[in-house]
Amino acid sequence: MNVLHVVGARPNFMKVAPVIRALRERNGVRQILVHTGQHYDANMSDLFFEQLELPKPDIALGVGSGSHAVQTAEVMKALEGCMLDHKPDWVLVYGDVNSTLAAALVCAKLRIRVAHVEAGLRSFDREMPEEINRIVTDQIADLLLTPSADADDNLRAEGIHPDRVQRVGNVMIDTLVHLLPRAQSLQFPGLPARYALVTLHRPSNVDHEPTLRMILETLDEISEYCPIIFPIHPRTRKKIESLSFTFSARAKVELREPIGYLDCLALQSRAQMVITDSGGLQEETTFLRVPCLTLRVNTERPVTISQGTNVLVGGDMLKLRREVARIMEGDFSRGNQIEFWDGKASERIADAIADSTRLGVPRTMALPCATNCHKARMNRTPSD
Ligand code: UD1
Repeated sequence: MNVLHVVGARPNFMKVAPVIRALRERNGVRQILVHTGQHYDANMSDLFFEQLELPKPDIALGVGSGSHAVQTAEVMKALEGCMLDHKPDWVLVYGDVNSTLAAALVCAKLRIRVAHVEAGLRSFDREMPEEINRIVTDQIADLLLTPSADADDNLRAEGIHPDRVQRVGNVMIDTLVHLLPRAQSLQFPGLPARYALVTLHRPSNVDHEPTLRMILETLDEISEYCPIIFPIHPRTRKKIESLSFTFSARAKVELREPIGYLDCLALQSRAQMVITDSGGLQEETTFLRVPCLTLRVNTERPVTISQGTNVLVGGDMLKLRREVARIMEGDFSRGNQIEFWDGKASERIADAIADSTRLGVPRTMALPCATNCHKARMNRTPSD
């Protein structure tokens, strides 16, 4: 059986790593790893491959940045040839980034079976590009591998047949469990005893200048009594530079370049709190029992609130200050263990893929003649 994985952006890499490891243990499974190149900087991509012990991608499409339409279309154009060349039995797509949607669309049109890892999450906020990616991917994927019961409920409410849905648990936690000992052995000279780790990259927070300025001013103030470590996403760095914002002389904010997976895990596990708009960090902090303040009005990961350490503060800076003060006084929820967040989700995914008969007769792929990926790339016009 040929299994082709498509990844493109930072949050995909920690999801694919344990699945590749689990499928390696299965007889007769040949794996192909495709990197779309949605993220391409060394510290947004190569560093993750190295730390997550991922194999070098078999195919690198190198699509890079662009508007949503351009990025999605470029991934689709480049992927089609790869699918025709390799004729995978299964394609696995991960999370909710543009590369996820693009790959699912290509497979659906070619009638290649596609499984969505981390299916069913919903923020119910269509202003988020990721929400559109999730809804469409789930509608067209053959197998929906969900992390939690709320995801199953969302899919059922959208009319998706339960036979297509399988709850496997949270694959991010597999990677966390695997690499936590290595992360905990890292040294950070000069790290404050108590600090908040801050990450910020959502367009809703960083693309609107007054919102970004308000958040930065609040962080400036908070840092006077709770030092802040702030690794900056390239999108956010560009926006801060265009604002010409500088932190005050009193502020204790340490800006860092984007950090790798191990550093991020280590800094989360030692933090007094995390302030973020990332989806992955909401989950990791819940597992690590570290308080998390999320700068969003909604989350597609509600179990991190109902059973974890997450509190939504939205754009309410008064609430952010109040919650920071509460955490500093030790007043916060430490959460519970969540079902299937046990480090074994990737084993359950490998079982589901290996047991393809559950979807009935395998699809006949009435595909046109094989092209080759390189030819597909070379056919692009110079203006591409
Ligand atoms: C993407 C995902 C988001 C995920 C995030 C994690 C979509 C719609 N969004 O958002 O769900 O949480 O990744 O990081 O897929 N850039 C670089 N170097 C890089 C990559 C990006 O400088 O290696 C800059 C470019 O200016 C680019 C911008 O960051 O235009 C945004 O990158 P993009 O991949 O479009 O979206 P993210 O904000 O990273």
